[in-house]
Amino acid sequence: MNREKKKMSPGIKVAPSASRLTGSLRDIGYSFESAVADLIDNSIAAGADNVDVRVNYDGRNSRVLIIDNGRGMDSDGLTEALRFGTKRDYGTGELGRYGLGLKTASLSQCRRVVVFSRDPKDGHLGGLSLDLDFIETVDDWMVTYPEDNALEEYVHQLLPHPTGTVVVWENLDRLVPVKNPDSSWARQKFSKLSDRLIQHLSMVFHRFLAGDGVDQVTVTVNGETLTPWDPFATAEEHTQLVSRDVHDLPTSTGQLGKITTQAYCLPSRSQFSTPEAFEAAAGPRKWNRQQGLYIYRANRLVQWGGWDGIRTIDEHIKLARVSLDFDTDLDDEFNINVAKMRVTMPHQLKKMLARTIADVCAQAGARYRRDQNKGNGEQADGLDRPADSIGISNGTEVGLALKSAAAQSGHYAAFQEMSEVIKKTSPELARQLGL
Ligand SMILES: Nc1ncnc2c1ncn2[C@@H]1O[C@H](COP(=O)(O)OP(=O)(O)OP(=O)(O)O)[C@@H](O)[C@H]1O
Ligand SMILES: [Mg+2]
Repeated sequence: MNREKKKMSPGIKVAPSASRLTGSLRDIGYSFESAVADLIDNSIAAGADNVDVRVNYDGRNSRVLIIDNGRGMDSDGLTEALRFGTKRDYGTGELGRYGLGLKTASLSQCRRVVVFSRDPKDGHLGGLSLDLDFIETVDDWMVTYPEDNALEEYVHQLLPHPTGTVVVWENLDRLVPVKNPDSSWARQKFSKLSDRLIQHLSMVFHRFLAGDGVDQVTVTVNGETLTPWDPFATAEEHTQLVSRDVHDLPTSTGQLGKITTQAYCLPSRSQFSTPEAFEAAAGPRKWNRQQGLYIYRANRLVQWGGWDGIRTIDEHIKLARVSLDFDTDLDDEFNINVAKMRVTMPHQLKKMLARTIADVCAQAGARYRRDQNKGNGEQADGLDRPADSIGISNGTEVGLALKSAAAQSGHYAAFQEMSEVIKKTSPELARQLGL
């Protein structure tokens, strides 16, 4: 084919097979809890301050419902919401990105999703459903009107608010075994879902649940109101903020993006206010695997623990946890996945964080050793005791204690300036202090 002819060619349309693609998209990596979290992102993005999740076991008629009091959608909005690849623009800080989550998260767990929403203009309740069995039959990207009047009646009762949306998952083939859906095993398996869900949502939305830097959102699961799980146990007296830094990350557009990190050394076992508080701070994956980086995208946690290859997980540094915040303008740099549960840390940023991480790990290691040496002794740590009794083995610990005090007292910038002066006037001392 000559070049001229190629240029003129109108192209050949190759539309995807709806039945094949919807089937394949079920397996893009959602767990049950991450799928529900993706729908709560939608509720938060729609301005909801109340989200009620219900996980109802009833054999093959089991359902999961996510009910919010957000701004709702009119009938065009509802149709667009069910398009794979919703056409819309996003502002900075909006939790959505791909126009896929509602569909992919839902169908990863069920074969039919029905969405009801109140029209923001007149409160009229509209509903549409996306049904895998129907799509397989027609092999087309079709949605239908829900035919289940009893369900619509039920949803009416669930949405007493003038605005809001209810997402209903039915035909839960991934959560209730298709064979023997009424067995006690099926019931048991299903009943564990809500425990897992409560733990996960309390973690990934902890800032929203606490109203920490964002508008507060109340989330309930089967009537239980979630309490935030704070990875840094900041309410504990002996949690140390070791450093707080703002990094400028160069982006592909040539702009600089802001990354904020806060490095915490958590209290050792004996320093926690109660043994229960120590257990609770362990987190869903327990102390060792919960050490490391906590990455927040627009205040929603998208990665919890692990060092992203910067260093390895180690029992001795399990008290070290570092928050890292980026906004949605850096989505490309962090390569956020559709399920919002994985990012790729930019290589350059890993280098920038090396010092912060080395410092907090040194502090965590020293704290862990002191606790071990004292056989979990009762004494308070570092800053609370006289220097000669805390067993300072080298200047780095003194340097870290000063750094931590500066960060906690809000004088970190002044501390950095002082460090620069010491580096110039007494380079050997600066080296010994690890500045
Ligand atoms: N609970 C809700 N309340 C109001 N509007 C909603 C709700 N859920 C979804 N929508 C609308 O439907 C659209 C599609 O949602 P969907 O989750 O599929 O994609 P997204 O949120 O735009 O992006 P992402 O794929 O990153 O989640 C949203 O952009 C929003 O306009
Ligand atoms: Mg979404």
